[in-house]
Amino acid sequence: MASKAYLEQLNKRRTFAIISHPDAGKTTITEKVLLFGNALQKAGTVKGRGSNQHAKSDWMEMEKERGISVTTSVMQFPYSNALVNLLDTPGHEDFSEDTYRTLTAVDACLMVIDAAKGVEDRTRKLMEVTRLRDTPILTFMNKLDRDIRDPMELLDEVETELNIACAPITWPIGCGKEFKGVYHIQRDETILYRSGMGHTIQEKRVIKGLDNPELEKAIGEGLAGQLREELELVMGASHEFEQEAFLAGQLTPVFFGTALGNFGVDHMLDGLVAWAPRPQNRETDEREVSAEEEKFSGFVFKIQANMDPKHRDRIAFCRIVSGKYQKGMKLFQTRIGKDVRISDALTFMAGDREAVEEAYAGDIIGLHNHGSIQIGDTFTEGEKLKFSGIPNFAPELFKRIRLRDPMKQKQLQKGLIQLAEEGAVQVFRPLVNNDLIVGAVGVLQFDVVVARLKSEYNVDAIYEPVNVSTARWVYCEDGKKLDEFRRKAEVNLALDGGDNLTYIAPTMVNLSLAQERHPDIRFHKTREH
Ligand code: G4P
Repeated sequence: MASKAYLEQLNKRRTFAIISHPDAGKTTITEKVLLFGNALQKAGTVKGRGSNQHAKSDWMEMEKERGISVTTSVMQFPYSNALVNLLDTPGHEDFSEDTYRTLTAVDACLMVIDAAKGVEDRTRKLMEVTRLRDTPILTFMNKLDRDIRDPMELLDEVETELNIACAPITWPIGCGKEFKGVYHIQRDETILYRSGMGHTIQEKRVIKGLDNPELEKAIGEGLAGQLREELELVMGASHEFEQEAFLAGQLTPVFFGTALGNFGVDHMLDGLVAWAPRPQNRETDEREVSAEEEKFSGFVFKIQANMDPKHRDRIAFCRIVSGKYQKGMKLFQTRIGKDVRISDALTFMAGDREAVEEAYAGDIIGLHNHGSIQIGDTFTEGEKLKFSGIPNFAPELFKRIRLRDPMKQKQLQKGLIQLAEEGAVQVFRPLVNNDLIVGAVGVLQFDVVVARLKSEYNVDAIYEPVNVSTARWVYCEDGKKLDEFRRKAEVNLALDGGDNLTYIAPTMVNLSLAQERHPDIRFHKTREH
Protein backbone atom coordinates (compact mmCIF):
# COMPACT_ATOMS: atom_id res chain seq x y z
CA MET A 1 0.00 0.00 0.00
CA ALA A 2 1.27 3.39 -0.96
CA SER A 3 1.64 5.97 1.79
CA LYS A 4 -0.79 8.85 2.01
CA ALA A 5 1.93 11.37 1.27
CA TYR A 6 2.95 9.51 -1.88
CA LEU A 7 -0.63 9.18 -3.12
CA GLU A 8 -1.14 12.88 -2.60
CA GLN A 9 1.81 13.62 -4.88
CA LEU A 10 0.60 11.09 -7.43
CA ASN A 11 -2.98 12.28 -7.47
CA LYS A 12 -2.14 15.87 -8.18
CA ARG A 13 0.02 15.18 -11.22
CA ARG A 14 -1.12 15.56 -14.81
CA THR A 15 1.22 14.92 -17.71
CA PHE A 16 0.14 15.93 -21.20
CA ALA A 17 1.25 17.02 -24.66
CA ILE A 18 -0.34 19.22 -27.31
CA ILE A 19 -1.08 17.82 -30.73
CA SER A 20 -2.00 20.08 -33.61
CA HIS A 21 -1.35 21.02 -37.19
CA PRO A 22 1.34 23.70 -37.64
CA ASP A 23 -0.06 27.20 -37.10
CA ALA A 24 -3.14 26.06 -35.23
CA GLY A 25 -1.78 27.78 -32.13
CA LYS A 26 0.21 25.27 -30.11
CA THR A 27 2.95 27.74 -29.22
CA THR A 28 0.48 30.44 -28.28
CA ILE A 29 -1.49 28.08 -26.06
CA THR A 30 1.73 26.94 -24.41
CA GLU A 31 2.52 30.56 -23.59
CA LYS A 32 -0.88 31.15 -22.02
CA VAL A 33 -0.83 27.90 -20.12
CA LEU A 34 2.50 28.92 -18.62
CA LEU A 35 1.07 32.33 -17.83
CA PHE A 36 -1.63 30.65 -15.78
CA GLY A 37 1.00 28.52 -14.15
CA ASN A 38 2.68 31.74 -13.10
CA ALA A 39 5.65 30.21 -14.76
CA LEU A 40 6.25 33.28 -16.82
CA GLN A 41 5.47 36.77 -15.70
CA LYS A 42 4.23 37.72 -19.06
CA ALA A 43 3.48 35.12 -21.68
CA GLY A 44 5.32 35.58 -24.90
CA THR A 45 8.71 34.11 -24.34
CA VAL A 46 8.12 30.61 -25.57
CA LYS A 47 8.74 31.52 -29.16
CA GLY A 48 10.10 35.04 -29.50
CA ARG A 49 8.59 35.80 -32.84
CA GLY A 50 10.23 38.74 -34.52
CA SER A 51 12.01 39.76 -31.37
CA ASN A 52 15.19 38.91 -29.55
CA GLN A 53 13.42 36.81 -27.00
CA HIS A 54 14.27 33.39 -28.17
CA ALA A 55 12.17 30.52 -27.22
CA LYS A 56 13.23 28.65 -24.20
CA SER A 57 12.16 25.53 -26.01
CA ASP A 58 13.72 26.35 -29.38
CA TRP A 59 17.41 26.63 -29.08
CA MET A 60 18.88 25.55 -32.33
CA GLU A 61 19.76 28.12 -34.95
CA MET A 62 17.74 26.23 -37.45
CA GLU A 63 14.67 26.35 -35.36
CA LYS A 64 14.97 30.07 -34.98
CA GLU A 65 15.39 30.49 -38.71
CA ARG A 66 12.44 28.35 -39.55
CA GLY A 67 10.34 29.24 -36.59
CA ILE A 68 9.80 25.61 -35.84
CA SER A 69 10.49 23.55 -32.82
CA VAL A 70 12.46 20.53 -33.97
CA THR A 71 13.14 19.35 -30.49
CA THR A 72 11.05 18.42 -27.54
CA SER A 73 11.11 20.08 -24.18
CA VAL A 74 9.33 19.76 -20.90
CA MET A 75 7.63 22.36 -18.75
CA GLN A 76 6.25 21.87 -15.28
CA PHE A 77 3.90 24.30 -13.60
CA PRO A 78 1.29 24.40 -10.86
CA TYR A 79 -2.33 24.99 -11.77
CA SER A 80 -5.15 25.08 -9.28
CA ASN A 81 -4.40 22.21 -6.90
CA ALA A 82 -2.48 20.22 -9.50
CA LEU A 83 1.05 20.00 -10.76
CA VAL A 84 1.08 19.85 -14.54
CA ASN A 85 3.80 18.56 -16.85
CA LEU A 86 3.55 19.74 -20.44
CA LEU A 87 5.72 17.92 -22.95
CA ASP A 88 6.33 19.90 -26.11
CA THR A 89 6.17 17.94 -29.34
CA PRO A 90 7.98 19.05 -32.48
CA GLY A 91 5.70 21.22 -34.56
CA HIS A 92 7.05 20.73 -38.05
CA GLU A 93 5.24 18.83 -40.69
CA ASP A 94 7.43 15.80 -40.89
CA PHE A 95 6.25 12.87 -38.96
CA SER A 96 8.93 12.48 -36.38
CA GLU A 97 9.89 9.59 -34.22
CA ASP A 98 10.50 12.03 -31.41
CA THR A 99 6.88 13.05 -31.52
CA TYR A 100 5.76 9.48 -31.38
CA ARG A 101 7.98 8.65 -28.45
CA THR A 102 6.95 11.78 -26.60
CA LEU A 103 3.35 10.67 -26.92
CA THR A 104 4.26 7.42 -25.17
CA ALA A 105 5.39 9.46 -22.16
CA VAL A 106 2.14 11.36 -21.51
CA ASP A 107 -1.19 10.38 -19.97
CA ALA A 108 -3.38 12.79 -21.94
CA CYS A 109 -3.26 15.06 -24.99
CA LEU A 110 -4.72 18.40 -25.88
CA MET A 111 -5.78 18.63 -29.52
CA VAL A 112 -5.72 22.20 -30.79
CA ILE A 113 -7.76 22.94 -33.88
CA ASP A 114 -7.83 26.14 -35.90
CA ALA A 115 -11.57 26.73 -35.91
CA ALA A 116 -11.39 28.49 -39.26
CA LYS A 117 -9.87 25.42 -40.83
CA GLY A 118 -11.12 22.38 -38.96
CA VAL A 119 -9.37 19.03 -38.88
CA GLU A 120 -6.05 19.16 -40.73
CA ASP A 121 -3.55 16.59 -41.91
CA ARG A 122 -1.08 16.47 -39.13
CA THR A 123 -3.78 16.38 -36.49
CA ARG A 124 -5.17 13.32 -38.21
CA LYS A 125 -1.79 11.62 -38.15
CA LEU A 126 -1.10 12.46 -34.54
CA MET A 127 -4.53 11.29 -33.48
CA GLU A 128 -3.75 7.93 -35.06
CA VAL A 129 -0.69 7.74 -32.86
CA THR A 130 -2.62 8.57 -29.68
CA ARG A 131 -5.10 5.85 -30.63
CA LEU A 132 -2.46 3.19 -30.27
CA ARG A 133 -2.60 3.73 -26.52
CA ASP A 134 -6.16 5.12 -26.25
CA THR A 135 -4.80 8.31 -24.74
CA PRO A 136 -7.55 10.61 -23.40
CA ILE A 137 -7.94 13.70 -25.61
CA LEU A 138 -9.15 17.21 -24.75
CA THR A 139 -9.96 19.57 -27.61
CA PHE A 140 -9.50 23.32 -27.93
CA MET A 141 -11.13 25.10 -30.87
CA ASN A 142 -8.87 28.07 -31.36
CA LYS A 143 -8.97 31.49 -33.04
CA LEU A 144 -12.55 32.42 -32.19
CA ASP A 145 -11.50 36.06 -32.59
CA ARG A 146 -11.49 35.33 -36.31
CA ASP A 147 -14.25 34.23 -38.59
CA ILE A 148 -14.59 30.55 -37.95
CA ARG A 149 -16.58 27.71 -39.42
CA ASP A 150 -19.94 26.74 -37.99
CA PRO A 151 -19.17 25.22 -34.54
CA MET A 152 -21.66 22.38 -34.98
CA GLU A 153 -20.04 21.49 -38.27
CA LEU A 154 -16.62 21.50 -36.60
CA LEU A 155 -17.79 19.00 -34.01
CA ASP A 156 -19.25 16.83 -36.76
CA GLU A 157 -15.98 16.89 -38.60
CA VAL A 158 -14.01 15.84 -35.54
CA GLU A 159 -16.48 13.04 -34.88
CA THR A 160 -16.48 11.62 -38.38
CA GLU A 161 -12.89 12.24 -39.40
CA LEU A 162 -11.21 11.36 -36.14
CA ASN A 163 -13.76 8.88 -34.94
CA ILE A 164 -14.13 10.31 -31.47
CA ALA A 165 -17.32 11.57 -29.83
CA CYS A 166 -17.45 15.29 -28.96
CA ALA A 167 -18.84 16.68 -25.72
CA PRO A 168 -18.89 20.48 -25.86
CA ILE A 169 -18.09 21.90 -22.45
CA THR A 170 -18.30 25.49 -23.56
CA TRP A 171 -20.18 27.00 -26.48
CA PRO A 172 -19.07 30.10 -28.39
CA ILE A 173 -21.10 33.28 -28.68
CA GLY A 174 -20.36 34.83 -32.06
CA CYS A 175 -16.92 34.93 -33.60
CA GLY A 176 -14.47 37.34 -35.22
CA LYS A 177 -15.24 40.94 -34.35
CA GLU A 178 -18.51 39.75 -32.87
CA PHE A 179 -16.94 37.24 -30.51
CA LYS A 180 -18.54 37.87 -27.13
CA GLY A 181 -17.42 34.93 -25.05
CA VAL A 182 -18.57 31.42 -24.24
CA TYR A 183 -21.38 29.80 -22.36
CA HIS A 184 -20.07 27.14 -19.97
CA ILE A 185 -22.59 24.36 -20.31
CA GLN A 186 -21.65 22.51 -17.14
CA ARG A 187 -21.43 25.58 -14.93
CA ASP A 188 -24.47 27.27 -16.49
CA GLU A 189 -22.69 30.57 -16.84
CA THR A 190 -21.62 32.93 -19.57
CA ILE A 191 -18.05 34.16 -19.51
CA LEU A 192 -17.57 37.39 -21.40
CA TYR A 193 -14.64 38.07 -23.68
CA ARG A 194 -12.71 41.29 -23.84
CA SER A 195 -10.28 41.74 -26.72
CA GLY A 196 -6.72 42.98 -26.41
CA MET A 197 -6.10 41.31 -23.04
CA GLY A 198 -4.06 38.37 -24.29
CA HIS A 199 -1.01 39.08 -22.20
CA THR A 200 -2.72 39.08 -18.87
CA ILE A 201 -4.92 36.93 -16.75
CA GLN A 202 -8.18 38.78 -17.03
CA GLU A 203 -10.64 39.29 -14.28
CA LYS A 204 -13.54 37.06 -15.19
CA ARG A 205 -16.80 38.69 -16.13
CA VAL A 206 -19.43 36.08 -15.54
CA ILE A 207 -23.19 36.02 -15.95
CA LYS A 208 -24.86 33.21 -14.03
CA GLY A 209 -27.72 31.34 -15.68
CA LEU A 210 -28.84 31.21 -19.28
CA ASP A 211 -32.09 33.06 -18.58
CA ASN A 212 -30.47 35.90 -16.73
CA PRO A 213 -31.63 39.20 -18.30
CA GLU A 214 -28.10 40.51 -17.77
CA LEU A 215 -27.15 38.37 -20.73
CA GLU A 216 -29.20 40.53 -23.11
CA LYS A 217 -27.54 43.60 -21.72
CA ALA A 218 -24.09 42.17 -22.17
CA ILE A 219 -24.28 40.57 -25.60
CA GLY A 220 -27.44 42.02 -27.11
CA GLU A 221 -30.83 40.47 -27.72
CA GLY A 222 -29.95 38.98 -31.05
CA LEU A 223 -26.96 37.00 -29.87
CA ALA A 224 -28.65 36.00 -26.60
CA GLY A 225 -31.58 34.56 -28.49
CA GLN A 226 -29.29 32.83 -30.94
CA LEU A 227 -27.25 31.31 -28.11
CA ARG A 228 -30.34 29.84 -26.43
CA GLU A 229 -31.53 28.39 -29.71
CA GLU A 230 -28.18 26.94 -30.62
CA LEU A 231 -27.77 25.40 -27.20
CA GLU A 232 -31.05 23.59 -27.49
CA LEU A 233 -29.87 22.12 -30.74
CA VAL A 234 -26.41 21.31 -29.43
CA MET A 235 -27.71 19.57 -26.34
CA GLY A 236 -29.89 17.38 -28.52
CA ALA A 237 -27.27 16.60 -31.15
CA SER A 238 -24.05 16.20 -29.23
CA HIS A 239 -22.77 13.99 -26.45
CA GLU A 240 -22.73 14.71 -22.77
CA PHE A 241 -19.39 14.51 -21.06
CA GLU A 242 -18.71 11.07 -19.66
CA GLN A 243 -15.59 10.46 -17.64
CA GLU A 244 -15.24 6.81 -18.54
CA ALA A 245 -15.53 7.34 -22.29
CA PHE A 246 -13.02 10.18 -22.01
CA LEU A 247 -10.52 7.99 -20.17
CA ALA A 248 -10.94 5.29 -22.81
CA GLY A 249 -10.09 7.80 -25.54
CA GLN A 250 -13.59 7.52 -27.03
CA LEU A 251 -14.93 10.96 -26.17
CA THR A 252 -13.31 14.36 -26.09
CA PRO A 253 -14.47 17.40 -24.10
CA VAL A 254 -14.43 20.44 -26.42
CA PHE A 255 -13.58 24.01 -25.43
CA PHE A 256 -13.81 27.15 -27.54
CA GLY A 257 -11.66 30.23 -27.26
CA THR A 258 -8.77 32.23 -28.52
CA ALA A 259 -5.26 31.47 -27.41
CA LEU A 260 -4.01 34.80 -28.67
CA GLY A 261 -6.67 36.60 -26.64
CA ASN A 262 -5.98 34.27 -23.71
CA PHE A 263 -9.63 33.38 -23.51
CA GLY A 264 -10.88 29.87 -22.80
CA VAL A 265 -7.48 28.40 -22.04
CA ASP A 266 -8.29 28.33 -18.33
CA HIS A 267 -11.54 26.45 -18.99
CA MET A 268 -9.51 23.81 -20.77
CA LEU A 269 -6.98 23.68 -17.91
CA ASP A 270 -9.81 23.26 -15.41
CA GLY A 271 -11.00 20.30 -17.46
CA LEU A 272 -7.52 18.84 -17.65
CA VAL A 273 -7.06 19.00 -13.91
CA ALA A 274 -10.52 17.64 -13.16
CA TRP A 275 -10.71 14.83 -15.69
CA ALA A 276 -7.35 13.84 -17.11
CA PRO A 277 -5.91 10.81 -15.39
CA ARG A 278 -3.17 10.90 -12.82
CA PRO A 279 0.06 9.13 -13.88
CA GLN A 280 -0.85 5.79 -15.40
CA ASN A 281 0.51 2.28 -15.01
CA ARG A 282 2.86 1.04 -17.72
CA GLU A 283 3.71 -2.36 -19.21
CA THR A 284 7.15 -3.93 -19.06
CA ASP A 285 8.52 -7.17 -20.45
CA GLU A 286 7.87 -8.77 -17.06
CA ARG A 287 4.76 -7.22 -15.55
CA GLU A 288 2.67 -4.08 -15.35
CA VAL A 289 4.21 -1.44 -13.11
CA SER A 290 1.63 0.42 -11.06
CA ALA A 291 2.14 4.14 -10.53
CA GLU A 292 1.28 3.50 -6.90
CA GLU A 293 4.46 1.53 -6.31
CA GLU A 294 6.78 3.63 -4.24
CA LYS A 295 9.91 2.13 -5.72
CA PHE A 296 11.34 4.23 -8.52
CA SER A 297 10.99 3.16 -12.14
CA GLY A 298 11.14 5.13 -15.37
CA PHE A 299 12.07 5.04 -19.03
CA VAL A 300 14.02 7.28 -21.37
CA PHE A 301 11.93 8.51 -24.29
CA LYS A 302 14.20 11.18 -25.65
CA ILE A 303 17.82 12.24 -25.73
CA GLN A 304 18.72 15.75 -26.65
CA ALA A 305 22.02 17.49 -27.21
CA ASN A 306 23.14 20.93 -26.24
CA MET A 307 19.90 22.26 -24.92
CA ASP A 308 21.66 25.25 -23.66
CA PRO A 309 24.74 26.39 -25.57
CA LYS A 310 26.35 27.17 -22.21
CA HIS A 311 26.02 23.55 -21.10
CA ARG A 312 27.41 21.44 -23.88
CA ASP A 313 25.97 18.20 -22.67
CA ARG A 314 23.34 15.73 -23.62
CA ILE A 315 20.23 15.18 -21.62
CA ALA A 316 18.23 11.97 -21.43
CA PHE A 317 14.56 12.65 -20.66
CA CYS A 318 13.21 10.05 -18.29
CA ARG A 319 9.51 9.68 -17.58
CA ILE A 320 9.02 8.48 -14.04
CA VAL A 321 6.47 5.68 -14.04
CA SER A 322 6.44 4.88 -10.33
CA GLY A 323 7.96 6.07 -7.11
CA LYS A 324 10.06 9.02 -6.27
CA TYR A 325 13.38 10.35 -7.43
CA GLN A 326 15.56 11.89 -4.77
CA LYS A 327 18.73 13.76 -5.36
CA GLY A 328 21.76 11.54 -4.99
CA MET A 329 19.87 8.26 -5.24
CA LYS A 330 21.30 5.21 -6.95
CA LEU A 331 19.42 3.94 -9.97
CA PHE A 332 19.79 0.63 -11.73
CA GLN A 333 20.15 0.94 -15.50
CA THR A 334 18.62 -2.36 -16.54
CA ARG A 335 20.05 -2.64 -20.08
CA ILE A 336 23.63 -2.65 -18.91
CA GLY A 337 22.88 -4.08 -15.47
CA LYS A 338 24.69 -1.33 -13.60
CA ASP A 339 23.96 1.06 -10.77
CA VAL A 340 24.45 4.73 -11.48
CA ARG A 341 24.32 7.49 -8.91
CA ILE A 342 22.14 10.37 -10.07
CA SER A 343 23.21 13.47 -8.27
CA ASP A 344 22.18 16.12 -10.71
CA ALA A 345 18.92 15.35 -12.49
CA LEU A 346 17.18 18.34 -14.02
CA THR A 347 13.64 19.48 -14.08
CA PHE A 348 12.18 22.02 -16.43
CA MET A 349 10.11 24.29 -14.31
CA ALA A 350 9.06 27.25 -16.42
CA GLY A 351 11.48 26.20 -19.10
CA ASP A 352 14.53 26.84 -16.96
CA ARG A 353 16.86 24.10 -15.93
CA GLU A 354 16.97 23.62 -12.21
CA ALA A 355 18.41 20.85 -10.14
CA VAL A 356 15.58 18.82 -8.64
CA GLU A 357 15.60 17.56 -5.13
CA GLU A 358 12.75 15.18 -5.72
CA ALA A 359 10.33 14.17 -8.42
CA TYR A 360 7.42 11.76 -8.60
CA ALA A 361 5.64 9.42 -10.99
CA GLY A 362 4.36 11.45 -13.92
CA ASP A 363 7.28 13.87 -13.81
CA ILE A 364 10.09 14.02 -16.29
CA ILE A 365 13.65 14.28 -15.10
CA GLY A 366 16.63 15.11 -17.27
CA LEU A 367 19.65 12.89 -16.74
CA HIS A 368 23.09 14.01 -17.86
CA ASN A 369 24.26 11.61 -20.46
CA HIS A 370 27.81 11.00 -21.50
CA GLY A 371 26.92 8.34 -24.00
CA SER A 372 25.85 5.49 -21.75
CA ILE A 373 22.11 6.14 -21.88
CA GLN A 374 19.99 5.18 -24.88
CA ILE A 375 16.41 5.82 -25.85
CA GLY A 376 14.22 3.14 -24.32
CA ASP A 377 16.50 2.54 -21.33
CA THR A 378 14.72 1.61 -18.13
CA PHE A 379 15.86 2.73 -14.69
CA THR A 380 14.68 1.04 -11.48
CA GLU A 381 15.82 0.58 -7.90
CA GLY A 382 17.23 -2.83 -8.75
CA GLU A 383 14.49 -4.87 -10.42
CA LYS A 384 15.32 -6.11 -13.88
CA LEU A 385 12.53 -4.67 -16.00
CA LYS A 386 12.19 -3.12 -19.40
CA PHE A 387 9.33 -0.81 -20.31
CA SER A 388 7.83 -1.70 -23.66
CA GLY A 389 6.36 0.31 -26.48
CA ILE A 390 9.11 2.75 -27.36
CA PRO A 391 9.92 1.90 -30.94
CA ASN A 392 12.27 2.90 -33.73
CA PHE A 393 10.65 3.12 -37.13
CA ALA A 394 12.22 1.77 -40.28
CA PRO A 395 13.28 4.86 -42.21
CA GLU A 396 11.81 5.53 -45.61
CA LEU A 397 14.40 7.96 -46.94
CA PHE A 398 18.11 7.27 -47.33
CA LYS A 399 21.19 9.21 -48.29
CA ARG A 400 24.87 8.52 -48.20
CA ILE A 401 26.69 11.07 -46.13
CA ARG A 402 30.21 12.17 -47.05
CA LEU A 403 32.75 14.57 -45.62
CA ARG A 404 34.09 17.57 -47.41
CA ASP A 405 37.27 17.15 -45.38
CA PRO A 406 38.21 13.46 -45.32
CA MET A 407 40.40 13.92 -42.24
CA LYS A 408 37.40 14.02 -39.96
CA GLN A 409 35.95 10.57 -40.55
CA LYS A 410 36.13 9.74 -36.85
CA GLN A 411 34.21 12.82 -35.75
CA LEU A 412 31.61 12.18 -38.43
CA GLN A 413 31.06 8.65 -37.26
CA LYS A 414 30.91 9.68 -33.61
CA GLY A 415 28.49 12.51 -34.37
CA LEU A 416 26.20 10.29 -36.40
CA ILE A 417 26.10 7.56 -33.81
CA GLN A 418 25.30 10.07 -31.07
CA LEU A 419 22.58 11.66 -33.18
CA ALA A 420 21.21 8.19 -33.85
CA GLU A 421 21.15 7.42 -30.13
CA GLU A 422 19.12 10.55 -29.63
CA GLY A 423 16.70 9.39 -32.27
CA ALA A 424 17.39 12.44 -34.44
CA VAL A 425 18.20 10.17 -37.34
CA GLN A 426 19.24 6.60 -38.04
CA VAL A 427 22.60 5.54 -39.32
CA PHE A 428 23.56 2.38 -41.16
CA ARG A 429 27.05 1.06 -41.77
CA PRO A 430 27.12 -1.61 -44.49
CA LEU A 431 29.10 -4.75 -43.66
CA VAL A 432 30.92 -4.68 -46.97
CA ASN A 433 32.19 -1.12 -47.24
CA ASN A 434 32.89 2.04 -45.25
CA ASP A 435 29.84 4.00 -46.36
CA LEU A 436 27.75 5.83 -43.84
CA ILE A 437 24.10 5.83 -44.77
CA VAL A 438 21.65 8.12 -43.07
CA GLY A 439 18.05 7.00 -42.86
CA ALA A 440 15.16 9.26 -41.92
CA VAL A 441 11.42 9.13 -41.61
CA GLY A 442 10.97 12.77 -42.69
CA VAL A 443 12.96 14.96 -45.10
CA LEU A 444 13.69 17.66 -42.56
CA GLN A 445 15.78 15.28 -40.48
CA PHE A 446 18.53 15.35 -43.14
CA ASP A 447 18.96 19.12 -42.85
CA VAL A 448 18.93 18.95 -39.08
CA VAL A 449 21.71 16.36 -39.10
CA VAL A 450 24.01 18.37 -41.35
CA ALA A 451 23.40 21.54 -39.33
CA ARG A 452 24.08 19.80 -36.06
CA LEU A 453 27.17 17.97 -37.34
CA LYS A 454 28.57 21.35 -38.23
CA SER A 455 27.69 23.20 -35.05
CA GLU A 456 28.26 20.43 -32.53
CA TYR A 457 30.96 18.25 -34.08
CA ASN A 458 32.59 20.76 -36.37
CA VAL A 459 32.32 18.53 -39.43
CA ASP A 460 31.25 19.64 -42.83
CA ALA A 461 29.21 16.91 -44.47
CA ILE A 462 27.21 16.59 -47.64
CA TYR A 463 24.77 14.03 -48.98
CA GLU A 464 24.86 11.85 -52.04
CA PRO A 465 22.10 9.68 -53.38
CA VAL A 466 22.27 6.04 -52.42
CA ASN A 467 20.50 3.05 -53.85
CA VAL A 468 18.52 2.05 -50.79
CA SER A 469 14.76 2.29 -50.59
CA THR A 470 13.85 0.48 -47.42
CA ALA A 471 15.34 -1.13 -44.32
CA ARG A 472 14.32 -3.90 -41.95
CA TRP A 473 15.78 -5.07 -38.68
CA VAL A 474 16.51 -8.77 -38.92
CA TYR A 475 16.14 -11.35 -36.20
CA CYS A 476 16.60 -15.10 -35.93
CA GLU A 477 16.78 -17.20 -32.79
CA ASP A 478 18.82 -19.85 -34.57
CA GLY A 479 22.43 -18.63 -34.56
CA LYS A 480 23.48 -20.96 -37.35
CA LYS A 481 20.76 -19.83 -39.70
CA LEU A 482 21.57 -16.22 -38.91
CA ASP A 483 25.23 -16.79 -39.76
CA GLU A 484 24.27 -18.39 -43.04
CA PHE A 485 22.01 -15.46 -43.82
CA ARG A 486 24.82 -13.07 -42.96
CA ARG A 487 27.06 -14.77 -45.49
CA LYS A 488 24.54 -15.02 -48.26
CA ALA A 489 23.03 -11.57 -47.94
CA GLU A 490 26.16 -9.73 -46.86
CA VAL A 491 25.99 -7.05 -49.56
CA ASN A 492 22.60 -5.95 -48.25
CA LEU A 493 23.39 -6.04 -44.57
CA ALA A 494 24.41 -3.19 -42.31
CA LEU A 495 24.70 -2.32 -38.64
CA ASP A 496 22.58 0.51 -37.27
CA GLY A 497 23.74 3.04 -34.67
CA GLY A 498 23.24 0.52 -31.86
CA ASP A 499 25.02 -2.30 -33.79
CA ASN A 500 21.77 -4.09 -34.63
CA LEU A 501 21.75 -6.07 -37.85
CA THR A 502 19.64 -4.51 -40.62
CA TYR A 503 18.75 -5.49 -44.13
CA ILE A 504 18.97 -2.52 -46.48
CA ALA A 505 17.15 -3.16 -49.72
CA PRO A 506 17.61 -1.32 -53.01
CA THR A 507 13.99 -2.05 -53.96
CA MET A 508 10.87 -3.46 -52.38
CA VAL A 509 11.09 -6.36 -54.82
CA ASN A 510 14.56 -7.18 -53.54
CA LEU A 511 13.19 -7.19 -50.01
CA SER A 512 10.33 -9.53 -50.88
CA LEU A 513 12.73 -11.91 -52.59
CA ALA A 514 15.02 -11.92 -49.57
CA GLN A 515 12.05 -12.66 -47.33
CA GLU A 516 11.01 -15.53 -49.59
CA ARG A 517 14.48 -16.98 -49.75
CA HIS A 518 15.07 -16.79 -46.02
CA PRO A 519 11.85 -17.87 -44.34
CA ASP A 520 13.57 -18.39 -40.98
CA ILE A 521 14.65 -14.79 -40.76
CA ARG A 522 12.23 -12.22 -39.35
CA PHE A 523 12.28 -8.80 -41.04
CA HIS A 524 10.92 -6.08 -38.73
CA LYS A 525 9.66 -2.64 -39.64
CA THR A 526 10.04 -1.33 -36.12
CA ARG A 527 12.60 -2.06 -33.50
CA GLU A 528 11.68 -1.83 -29.87
CA HIS A 529 14.33 -0.30 -27.77
P1 G4P B 1 1.85 26.61 -33.81
O1 G4P B 1 2.75 26.65 -32.63
O2 G4P B 1 0.74 25.63 -33.68
O3 G4P B 1 2.52 26.52 -35.12
O4 G4P B 1 1.05 28.01 -33.86
P2 G4P B 1 1.38 29.41 -33.20
O5 G4P B 1 0.99 29.42 -31.78
O6 G4P B 1 2.74 29.82 -33.56
O7 G4P B 1 0.31 30.27 -33.95
C1 G4P B 1 0.34 30.42 -35.35
C2 G4P B 1 -0.19 31.78 -35.73
O8 G4P B 1 -1.55 31.88 -35.30
C3 G4P B 1 0.55 32.92 -35.05
O9 G4P B 1 0.50 34.00 -35.95
C4 G4P B 1 -0.32 33.21 -33.85
O10 G4P B 1 -0.17 34.53 -33.39
C5 G4P B 1 -1.70 32.98 -34.43
N1 G4P B 1 -2.68 32.64 -33.41
C6 G4P B 1 -2.60 31.73 -32.41
N2 G4P B 1 -3.73 31.73 -31.68
C7 G4P B 1 -4.54 32.64 -32.23
C8 G4P B 1 -5.85 33.13 -31.91
O11 G4P B 1 -6.51 32.70 -30.97
N3 G4P B 1 -6.34 34.09 -32.72
C9 G4P B 1 -5.65 34.60 -33.78
N4 G4P B 1 -6.25 35.55 -34.50
N5 G4P B 1 -4.43 34.18 -34.09
C10 G4P B 1 -3.87 33.22 -33.33
P3 G4P B 1 1.73 34.42 -36.83
O12 G4P B 1 1.27 35.50 -37.73
O13 G4P B 1 2.39 33.24 -37.42
O14 G4P B 1 2.71 34.96 -35.74
P4 G4P B 1 2.73 36.42 -35.18
O15 G4P B 1 3.64 37.11 -36.10
O16 G4P B 1 1.33 36.91 -35.19
O17 G4P B 1 3.26 36.29 -33.79
